Amino acid sequence: MQMVNVTIDNCKIQVPANYTVLEAAKQANIDIPTLCFLKDINEVGACRMCVVEVKGARSLQAACVYPVSEGLEVYTQTPAVREARKVTLELILSNHEKKCLTCVRSENCELQRLAKDLNVKDIRFEGEMSNLPIDDLSPSVVRDPNKCVLCRRCVSMCKNVQTVGAIDVTERGFRTTVSTAFNKPLSEVPCVNCGQCINVCPVGALREKDDIDKVWEALANPELHVVVQTAPAVRVA
Ligand code: FES
Repeated sequence: MQMVNVTIDNCKIQVPANYTVLEAAKQANIDIPTLCFLKDINEVGACRMCVVEVKGARSLQAACVYPVSEGLEVYTQTPAVREARKVTLELILSNHEKKCLTCVRSENCELQRLAKDLNVKDIRFEGEMSNLPIDDLSPSVVRDPNKCVLCRRCVSMCKNVQTVGAIDVTERGFRTTVSTAFNKPLSEVPCVNCGQCINVCPVGALREKDDIDKVWEALANPELHVVVQTAPAVRVA
């Protein structure tokens, strides 16, 4: 295997030439925060939480998709990097429904953890907030787009791993959402109720229905055109 020499935060290491900066940093026990990244499932560089300074590059780079190369020099904790991550997180939080006390993911939420780790206590950006309908017509999944952070993990899981493609990213800019074709409820699109989208969601935008008896009742109802899981389940660490 071809190896390259890279320096991360003045730590010199040798890593495989096909590594990203994030993988190289992990090998050196250097922590870089991530949000959208999910190894082998969602490697799209969508959130920019993992930005780092790369010597010679004109702007900050997303470590999760930036490839290593011979002699690469990376800095993960400069003031510019820390400020960029904080601003990004505040922008995400500025359009996030902050009902943490009543959220099923409270204390198990990657956004909450990032806010704590990056010491975000105030949000400098106030403005319009999304107010989208909650989709709870599916027998198994509740979808709350107001909590979605647009990481696209659920989309990659549904489309690329489960090969279902019931959800995708729609619209652009502030109106960007993860939704179904023609914004139909999940119950009216070919969702197979595998629940893998819930498994990979970093926040509470996708959750299981609370009442499991009603779930089974609905799944057994032939009038509901529901397909029970056929795709293989994937365990996400
Ligand atoms: Fe790298 Fe989201 S974790 S861009």
